[in-house]
Amino acid sequence: MNKGKKIKVLCVVGARPNFIKVAPLMEELKKYRQIKPILVHTGQHYDFEMSESFFKDLNIPKPDYNLEVGSGLHGAQTGKIIIEFEKVCLKEKPQLVIVVGDVNSTLAGALVAAKLHIPVAHIEAGLRSRDMTMPEEINRILTDHISDFLFVTEPAGVKNLLKENISKEKIYLVGDIMIDCLTNLKAKIQNSTILKKLKLKRKGYAVLTLHRPANVDDKKVFSKLISAFEEIQKKIKIVYPIHPRTKKQIEKFGFRWRFQRMKNFILIPPIGYIEMIKLVRESKFLMTDSGGLQEESTFLRVPCLTLRKNTERPITVEVGTNIVVGTNKNKILKKVNKILSGCGKRGKAPKYWDGKTAKRIVKILQPLFFSPK
Ligand code: UD1
Repeated sequence: MNKGKKIKVLCVVGARPNFIKVAPLMEELKKYRQIKPILVHTGQHYDFEMSESFFKDLNIPKPDYNLEVGSGLHGAQTGKIIIEFEKVCLKEKPQLVIVVGDVNSTLAGALVAAKLHIPVAHIEAGLRSRDMTMPEEINRILTDHISDFLFVTEPAGVKNLLKENISKEKIYLVGDIMIDCLTNLKAKIQNSTILKKLKLKRKGYAVLTLHRPANVDDKKVFSKLISAFEEIQKKIKIVYPIHPRTKKQIEKFGFRWRFQRMKNFILIPPIGYIEMIKLVRESKFLMTDSGGLQEESTFLRVPCLTLRKNTERPITVEVGTNIVVGTNKNKILKKVNKILSGCGKRGKAPKYWDGKTAKRIVKILQPLFFSPK
């Protein structure tokens, strides 16, 4: 195939969790002299703290293209990416497009490639929350059904795909590529001074992240969650790096005063990858509605309370440190008390969450690329 010519592999990223998945992949692709990796940033996330700081922390090369689509309604945002990304594909004519995760950029990238008959690889395939009100669930299902290589993080993902009649020849259980980042950057994480900066003591605080539309776009749900935090911060400090969408919602609902009057609640702007992992690693526990952090906390053996009705990552509950607690205040408080009394889940790392997932993925794709350097 393509003798003498480099194989063009186009990798698509758009939002914060994508950057963490593409960093180890770019690093691995670089090792193959036959490959020309091309990085396309859709621009779904664009603030320095949401994008550039991750490129710096994770050593991701500058994108070859930035589509600069920005924020917008789902249709408009996805549509803009499709229009702009199709132009890139037509110009570059890649032999493979790789998409990661479950954000709007993931689906848009896969759709363009599939329609142009370019093979698509999806990293983090097969995850299902069975909650079609989540935009991510729609993105996951559609992306998987138009992809040719499905790289899965955990066994439940394989089962989900087989149940949806996806051919088993396309499915590969390779582990979690985000863990590659964690292991690659271990030393830098260790050296982070974030605890000192925020005057925190090891295991003397909890970390919170919250940004899902189901939690912060619904005033009642959001209010209930805040009243849970009001109680929890009386017992332990809460550190909350706030997502821009949540910040907007706090202003919209007039909740700012509720955060301001909490004495033990530290609200900070979004932070970079290295600082965030250090913060979680040294915390007593994590409360989150993020997908990736459920996995990272399992790997770091930090108890995690997932503030959602469901998880698409069941292995974090089955073998990890995660408890899906929902948004009921009493239930949350009960679980927090259990952790504070020293009975938090300890868990262990799932199979293949070993820092070698990118290697496994590129090896599987090798027939497209010939042999390594
Ligand atoms: C997106 C993903 C979500 C992921 C999250 C991680 C989809 C459907 N959702 O959600 O799965 O967990 O990223 O962060 O793709 N904003 C800024 N600056 C930015 C980015 C966003 O101010 O750099 C604000 C804008 O007001 C924007 C809002 O945040 O409207 C939401 O951004 P968007 O990219 O639509 O979705 P996220 O909530 O970030």
